[in-house]
This record gives sequence, structure tokens and C-alpha cells, in this order.
Amino acid sequence: MADTPASPLAGCTILLIVGGGIAAYKALDLVRRLRERGAAVRPVMTEGAKQFVTPLSLASLAGAPVHDALFSLTDESTMGHIELSRAAELVVVAPATANLLAKLANGLADDLASTLLLATDKRTLVVPAMNLRMWLHPATRRNVERLRADGVLFCGPVEGAMACGEFGPGRMSEPLAVVAAIEAALAADTRLALPNLAPGRGALAGRRVVVTSGPTHEPIDPVRFIANRSSGKQGHAIASAAAAAGAEVVLVSGPVALPDPAGVRVERVETALEMLAAVKAALPADVFVAAAAVADWHVTAAAAHKLKKGGEPASLALAANPDILATVAGRERDRPPVVVGFAAETERLMDHAREKLGRKGCDLLVLNDVGPASGTFGGETNEVTILARDGGATAWPRLSKAEVAKRLVRLFAERLDET
Ligand code: CTP
Repeated sequence: MADTPASPLAGCTILLIVGGGIAAYKALDLVRRLRERGAAVRPVMTEGAKQFVTPLSLASLAGAPVHDALFSLTDESTMGHIELSRAAELVVVAPATANLLAKLANGLADDLASTLLLATDKRTLVVPAMNLRMWLHPATRRNVERLRADGVLFCGPVEGAMACGEFGPGRMSEPLAVVAAIEAALAADTRLALPNLAPGRGALAGRRVVVTSGPTHEPIDPVRFIANRSSGKQGHAIASAAAAAGAEVVLVSGPVALPDPAGVRVERVETALEMLAAVKAALPADVFVAAAAVADWHVTAAAAHKLKKGGEPASLALAANPDILATVAGRERDRPPVVVGFAAETERLMDHAREKLGRKGCDLLVLNDVGPASGTFGGETNEVTILARDGGATAWPRLSKAEVAKRLVRLFAERLDET
């Protein structure tokens, strides 16, 4: 029987902060899954958490004492709270309540959990769980945005039925999804880029990367729009890989059903015109990647009210959208040194791609076959050929979109080092 590959969790220490929410019971299963994969878990509970699960259950599953008090003589004499936060490879907050997120976003340290979060020099992965109205409240939205900008990693929340009887976003991700997020975080750089502590590492450290992703929606009337089949998976994977390589990343995304990549600032847009405006606002950058499937046209006069079926056959007047890639590649003052386009083609792939590379003025063009047989749109894999302005073309084998993203990021770093 083939050996199963060792989990990146083997031999790692996870500081697990359990917040006070009904989802705290999932933390117990999470501890079990982490330990099965060879990780050591140091559990911490907030006062609220103890209302939902007992310290004894958590300690028994973790095989380690639960810490819950900021000023504990016993704890401080064995392992001080600063030490506790530093002795872990990753800090995980599960479930992360709205209150814990607010404290972390604002740097409050008024109990053991929040003090540990402020004292750590390792990355923090939060697994939010709360009522959907709390998740959607502007205050939580602000806190989440700020935390993302600080490099805090997120897993979920997901949509679903809630303990309070409502349905929507705010449900805690399932333990196995959290394990996968922890493994991904550990595989990347988990040290915080704190000044003088652990300077940013990675191939794109200190670089700024702007990525467009997903489709655009061009409204016909308030309920109808023109769209395309792009899922945004490849663009989001590139943003994620660039962030993991140490870059400051702005992801300008059309409407997609994907979670925001960890450590990335996400600007959500709907139309091509909004996408162009958001990209311009995000410049200057070292690398610009146009992975979005931008609609080529918009409806000249979208109706203010829902169009009614009439006797006449309906026709739509269309106007061309601006070409975002060509606009960025043509900027005089602040053209990014590396401009990367995608070519989504269904026939005569190379001919169209070469022509596109020249017409758009980009440095690299990622050609992919999006014909129905390719499974690229919406799928998990991609088979691409990289065309360079100097004439070179390299075909990569079919790879996961995450692997394509990693390889592209390496290529961007090499290009930047050359320029
Ligand atoms: N692109 C863009 N703005 C547009 C259209 C396309 O930034 N208005 C970018 C895409 O993000 C991609 C590249 O241009 O990086 C090529 O997109 P593609 O849809 O393949 O080409 P089009 O320019 O739309 O040409 P055509 O539809 O004729 O193939």
C-alpha cells in the first residue's frame, strides 16, 4: 500500500483560541482532526466559550491544559502568555465571534485570547461564526476588511442554516475545511511581516500586484444582465499565490461565488467600467494580471425598470467596453513593469493569442483553451501556454489552477528581478 503523504501539520503546534459561540462544539472535532494529523494543540478559551463547551472536554481532546486567564500565577510560572503565543506555528481562532474579530481589528487586549492575538509573531487564521446580521453589519465588514489588510487569514464563514433558525452567511466552516485552510497556511509563510521581527519573505516580498478576476455583469435592466461562464478560480488563485509569496495584493473581482483569498484586499465590482475604475485606483503596481473575462460590450441604455414582454421582438443596443488590459499596458506614467494578459480561445489558439499579445501590449500572455471540451471554465485545472513578448512560448502540462498560479508567480518574480 502506498504511504499517505505526511500532513504539513505533523510536528506543528497550533494555538487554538475558542470563542464563545454555539459553533464552539465544532472546535472539539477540529482538535481531534488536528491531533490525528500529528499536530500539537494548545487550547485557549474565552469566558464566553466556557458557556458552550467545557474546558475539561477541550483539554481531554487536546491532551493539554486549557488556558483561560490573563493573570494566572500557575500559567505564568509554567509558560507566560507571550511565550504561549510565540511557541505556535499558527494561531487559529475557531469559532471567531464578531466580538473577537472587533477586538483583533482594533488591537484590544483585555483578556487572555485578545492579548495572545496581539502578542503573536505568527499569522492568525480566523474561522468566523455568527448570526448573518452580525456578519453583514457594516461594523463587522469594516473589521474584516481591516483584518484582511493586516494579513489575517480567513476560513469561511459559509452559507447555511444557523442555530438561530435563519439562513445565510455566518455559519462556521466544517472542521475538515478548517484543517485544509490550516494546512494551506502552514505550507505558505506563517511568520508575520512585523517590522524588525520577521521581514517579509517570499519571491514577491515588497511588491504590489493587482489582479482582475471573474466575469463582469452588464445590466440590461434591474434584474437581467449579460454575463459569461468565468468562475474566477484562476484569477483568485493567482491573487492567493502572490499574497503567499509576500506581495501586497489587490484583487478586483467581478461577481463570483468564491471566498476571498487570504491576505488579499478584494475590490468587488460588477461591470467592466467599474472594473476599470477600481484597477486605476489600485495602481501603481509592479505586476498587473488581467485574468478577468471582461464583457466586450455593455447595453448603452440599461432600463431603469424591468423590461416587459411587448409585441415587438426585443433588441439591445450595445457599446464597446474599454479594454482594461490594453489601457493598463498603455499607461505612460505608471505602466506596471510586468503586465500579464490571458487569452481565452476556442479555436486557432496560437494565432489568436499572438495577435492579442501584440494588440494589447502586454509582456506575457497566458493562453488557455476555453472550449466546452476543455473543462477550463469553472473547472479545477487549466492547461496553458505562456507566450512572451520576445517570441518565446512555453506549454505547461494540465495542472491545478493553484499550481498554475504558483508557477506564474515565480515567473513574475523572475521578470521583476530582470527589469
Ligand atoms: N480584457 C480586458 N478588458 C476587456 C476585454 C478583455 O482587460 N474589455 C483582457 C482579459 O482580462 C484578458 C485579455 O484581455 O486578459 C484577453 O481577453 P479575451 O476575452 O480573450 O479577449 P478579447 O479582448 O475580449 O478579444 P476577443 O473577444 O475578440 O477574443
